[in-house]
Amino acid sequence: MSTTIGDSNKQLIYLDSGATSQTPKQVIQDTQNYYEKLNSNVHRGAHTLSRKATEAFEDGRDAVASFINANSRNEIVFTSGATEAINLVASCYSRAIKLKEGDEILLTEMEHHSNLVPWQMIAKETGAVLKFVKVDFEKTGALDLDHMKSLLNENTRIVSFQHVSNVMACINPVQEMVAMVRANASSDAIVILDACQSLPHMKVDVQSLGVDFLAASGHKMCGPTGIGFLWGREDLLNSMPPFMGGGEMIDQVTLYESTYAPAPARFEAGTPPIAEVVGLASAIRYLETKLGMDKVEAYEHEIAAYLHKRLNEVDRVTVLGPPEGVQRAALCAFHVDGVHPSDLSTFLDMEGVAIRAGHHCCQPLHQAYGISHSARASLYIYNTKEDVDGFIEYLEKTIQFFTGLENIPEEGGDVGFVPI
Ligand SMILES: Cc1ncc(COP(=O)(O)O)c(C=O)c1O
Repeated sequence: MSTTIGDSNKQLIYLDSGATSQTPKQVIQDTQNYYEKLNSNVHRGAHTLSRKATEAFEDGRDAVASFINANSRNEIVFTSGATEAINLVASCYSRAIKLKEGDEILLTEMEHHSNLVPWQMIAKETGAVLKFVKVDFEKTGALDLDHMKSLLNENTRIVSFQHVSNVMACINPVQEMVAMVRANASSDAIVILDACQSLPHMKVDVQSLGVDFLAASGHKMCGPTGIGFLWGREDLLNSMPPFMGGGEMIDQVTLYESTYAPAPARFEAGTPPIAEVVGLASAIRYLETKLGMDKVEAYEHEIAAYLHKRLNEVDRVTVLGPPEGVQRAALCAFHVDGVHPSDLSTFLDMEGVAIRAGHHCCQPLHQAYGISHSARASLYIYNTKEDVDGFIEYLEKTIQFFTGLENIPEEGGDVGFVPI
């Protein structure tokens, strides 16, 4: 990553990895190597290059399967990202079980739009009912699990939630939530985990978590954009109709009918994102082998606590999510009394500090909390305490500036401070 911005000599402090992480050189080199040495279409070719490209692509599937401890490589379906993965399972699973009026889909109030809008579309089509677990903003800054229990019943067919909130930074207790579903929902209810904000930062083991599907995106875990995956239990994947029709996903084709290949090919119609899978596999090797997920998690735990503590010390700042002392992800969404998040991010950007302002694709969560937007600083393996200190310094200056504006005399006058 370049550490200065554009032509200026300003050091970049990149605090937006929750949106997209930076890419290690190794990943860029492996992707470039693919284009230089292996570029070809997979599966179809009888020639050496195609066989090599297929090997590299399918190695990527093995890398993902082992990273999340899947039972089988057939359980990994490559998609363009988590959004497509969730849309795939929403569309195909609800068709497989003939989801109907009165069936219930349980989500939470903190979901990213990617894990909300697809379900709204399915609910509209089928007449299924959407229900939402509330967030306890006052006490825990996390999901209200008693409320979750009260919403589960024999009509609950699908439960889908985030592992880690991209706004609240809380780490949801997946195993406890899965146990609650198994004990209180329909006997065939499935659990889908949106692991976008957990997989890059901690060891995720699908077998020990006990979920049925998991969705993630490569570009948040040091990989390229345009690649993600759906993991699903093999029996469930093979019970589902295809998502899209085309080459590669078929068994036999006649003019009027086709039969379909088993998973994962059934869900990978057309030429897949080959170079992106190679890049994702390289990112996994970087995280798992070069760094080690235990080290990643321990380091992020430390800088997460530091960021939270420093932000809490800043006047007028309120950080969303669990209080200090509770383990949180390495991100803080916050609002500043009297300063709009967009003004904050614009002023910080002028100093080389990249944070995000907006609703972070969680409009309902912000509505429930009573604000329309927040600012968010999100960290990753390459961030340091010095980055946090630099951010806090410029944040304080920006707040001082806006506080000064509040005190401008009626006739105008010197506000006393203008950030450079
Ligand atoms: C929790 C969560 N879920 C889903 C998504 C969607 O990921 P993508 O846009 O890569 O499909 C994001 C991206 O910000 C996210 O943070």
